[in-house]
Amino acid sequence: MSKPFYLTTPIYYVNDAPHIGHAYTTIAADVITRWHRQRQEEVWLLTGTDEHGEKVMRTAEANGVSPKEWADRLVETAWKPVLDTLDARVDDFIRTTEPRHVTAVARFLNSLHDKGEIYEGAYEGPYCIGCEEYKLPGDLIDGTGEYEGQKCCAIHLYPVEMIAEQNYFFRMSAYAERLLELYETQPDFVQPASARNEVIGFVKQGLQDLSISRSTFDWGVPIPWDSSHVLYVWFDALLNYMTAVGYGSDDEAERAKFARLWPANVHLVGKDILRFHAVIWPAMLMAAGLPLPSQVFAHGWLLVGGEKMSKTRLTGIAPADIIDTFGSDAYRYYFMRSITFGGDGSFSWEDMVSRYNGELANGLGNLASRVAAMIGKYFGGVLPTPGEVTDRERSLAAAAAKAVTDAETALDRLAIHDALASVWHLVDAANLYVTETQPWKLAKEAGQLDEDGQGVDGSALATSLVYAAEALRSLAVLLNPVMPKACARLWEMLGASGSLQEQPVTSAATFGALPAGTAVTKGDALFPRLIEE
Ligand code: MSP
Repeated sequence: MSKPFYLTTPIYYVNDAPHIGHAYTTIAADVITRWHRQRQEEVWLLTGTDEHGEKVMRTAEANGVSPKEWADRLVETAWKPVLDTLDARVDDFIRTTEPRHVTAVARFLNSLHDKGEIYEGAYEGPYCIGCEEYKLPGDLIDGTGEYEGQKCCAIHLYPVEMIAEQNYFFRMSAYAERLLELYETQPDFVQPASARNEVIGFVKQGLQDLSISRSTFDWGVPIPWDSSHVLYVWFDALLNYMTAVGYGSDDEAERAKFARLWPANVHLVGKDILRFHAVIWPAMLMAAGLPLPSQVFAHGWLLVGGEKMSKTRLTGIAPADIIDTFGSDAYRYYFMRSITFGGDGSFSWEDMVSRYNGELANGLGNLASRVAAMIGKYFGGVLPTPGEVTDRERSLAAAAAKAVTDAETALDRLAIHDALASVWHLVDAANLYVTETQPWKLAKEAGQLDEDGQGVDGSALATSLVYAAEALRSLAVLLNPVMPKACARLWEMLGASGSLQEQPVTSAATFGALPAGTAVTKGDALFPRLIEE
């Protein structure tokens, strides 16, 4: 049996509730894994929350509760529920405060300590609490306005803290050469190419050892051999990808799970957290002698008004703000289709409305309801036997086959936007097919005499509607990973047999799967047109 496809999202800080920037990573992860599930592969999708560190601790303090109480509240009221709002199907949700994580992290640290990979030293330098990152002087910008005269984080735009502490260090500098060799020999390890180039450029400048403990606060995993220190939050957080699947567990079943799932196939991350995943994480694994993940893929930022969307800049939009109007399917479709996965993209309400109306309501939704309505009207809702097949039908079937091949190739590159564009060629081809075959005209002609005085039978009409229905069936399978709710309804409308989940992508384009006699029902519109306010 082949190894399950194991994909991770970053684990989210619980200092705040999710906004559409966070949701973007989760949705992409869900779409990719649903695609693999549709291929009938075994899949594991992991998400969770990053609960230690100064940022979370300070937020809890500001709200007058303990960090654990704060984390519990945010996880239960915001981070777990948002998965339902987004219709994301995850296999596990890890919290870094869980014993399964904390115990295994201690084991990992002990193993590095025993190998001489960790030593005690002094750290002095800038730290950004927003990034939870030790910064290099070159990373900083001069503050303006109220921060005039101070050095600020270029991402968060607020002043960095200067820390001077006796800390434990990880000998990361020793791994620069091996990392460069990794990027060279496995070009797919960091993707897309822009991310790979950035990482290579960064490591080529040489690596410093990494401070991995803090002693001025206590909200973290204690260093096993020195409880006056807690582990640096990123070292703690990165380990979730292994601890959640059984690394360092005493339980035999958990250890077997680790053997089955590790290494991960893809760590999906935003570009702001690329270096942690593409530099620190593989160095940690190399030091521990553990297998490396196959790929770290960095997507871009969601911009609102040209800036990275974030709560602190007051550009934060909650997913429900959009989903309440458009539904989770349209939301998922919009973000996956309109933004090149790997690049930055802007969100605007106007664009969302225009894609919803143009592509979903008119393009796909209207096609489904017209075809179902005509089968209802002309054949009493029962699929007829198709008649003679012409070039038009052959070209529609070819469009379906091409949509499958192109979408598969694109998905393998994690080019989700391209995969959707390929599938949309089939939506367009099916609409064109209906426009050209004109079933409503064929229906009028049926029963009348043609130019040669022959009676026209309804076989051309039957062919047209059966082929249109077959194209819709292909679309239900191909779009199920992106719009599971609408596709389940489409599947039901078409009276297709078997479970939609169990239809392999490879046979999505097999026409002839809807036999004569299948009951087709119109049902409600898949994407009701939005009334302009
Ligand atoms: N806790 C760390 C990750 C640890 S993983 C071992 C973290 N958390 S986060 O909550 O700040 O961000 C999580 C993810 O949300 C990141 O992939 C980040 O890129 C993504 N996004 C947050 N804002 C975003 C946008 N405006 N646009 C796109 N994604 C963004 O970092």
